[in-house]
Amino acid sequence: MSAPVRSRRTTVSDIRALKGVRPIVSLTAYTAPMAQFLDPHVDFLLVGDSLGMVLYGFETTLPVTLDIMIAHGAAVVRGSQKALVLVDMPFGSYQEGPEQAFRSASRVLKETGANGIKLEGGEEMAPTVSFLSERGIPVLGHVGLTPQLVNTFGGYKTQGRDEARATKIKADAKAIADAGAFSIVLEGTMEPLAREITERSPVPIIGIGASPHCDGQILVTEDMLGLFNEFIPRHVRRFANLGEEIGKAVGEYASEVKARTFPGIENTFQPKKT
Ligand code: KIV
Repeated sequence: MSAPVRSRRTTVSDIRALKGVRPIVSLTAYTAPMAQFLDPHVDFLLVGDSLGMVLYGFETTLPVTLDIMIAHGAAVVRGSQKALVLVDMPFGSYQEGPEQAFRSASRVLKETGANGIKLEGGEEMAPTVSFLSERGIPVLGHVGLTPQLVNTFGGYKTQGRDEARATKIKADAKAIADAGAFSIVLEGTMEPLAREITERSPVPIIGIGASPHCDGQILVTEDMLGLFNEFIPRHVRRFANLGEEIGKAVGEYASEVKARTFPGIENTFQPKKT
């Protein structure tokens, strides 16, 4: 009897190797069933801390805890077979320094089975990125509009409009790549800046509201499927309107229940004749 054939999961080296070959496709996932739907179509799944806003109804990503990220990370690993799975480090779980980051990130890898982590920040995070990368924790960087700095930025504003900020974002991307990140998310920046960073970077730049010329793209799945309406970033394109579909389906169900035409199989719930 031959052993069952297990399809191989994408690795961080596979993602790196795609730079200059073809665009990298990625989406967020927070649950096992959604991971199952997305898995055949994407190179990597990110368990983003955006789940704080999208699933938990928080106003920002700041209240998300490491335990929440671990529970959802494990679910996404269980629901997927082929895609690389990366888990976001939540606010407060890594900013103190490399040792704290290693403690948090090693819990993520051990308890979820994910293949790496993402953390936000530029030059100031470079020592942490190299500490993790050198100790077996692949890091996806995140520069530009970094949502965990919402209080510093004063909102979710496009970054890199002025020369000084554009220069800083370029330095951030370079520092994180030099420190060993295998890829970098570049969020909410002006198009020419994103293009320049992508051209110069030795590692793939994954854009979100940045430029179609990045090495790949990521979106929050619930945004692109019309499942989250509280906050719609400018870059979001709706590929479906599942929120509306849910409304229609549930409305139909409610009408059938009220009209006593549901469940539709005659006598299913009739009391037994004695
Ligand atoms: O938290 C998240 O989902 C993210 C992506 C939008 C890149 O950081």
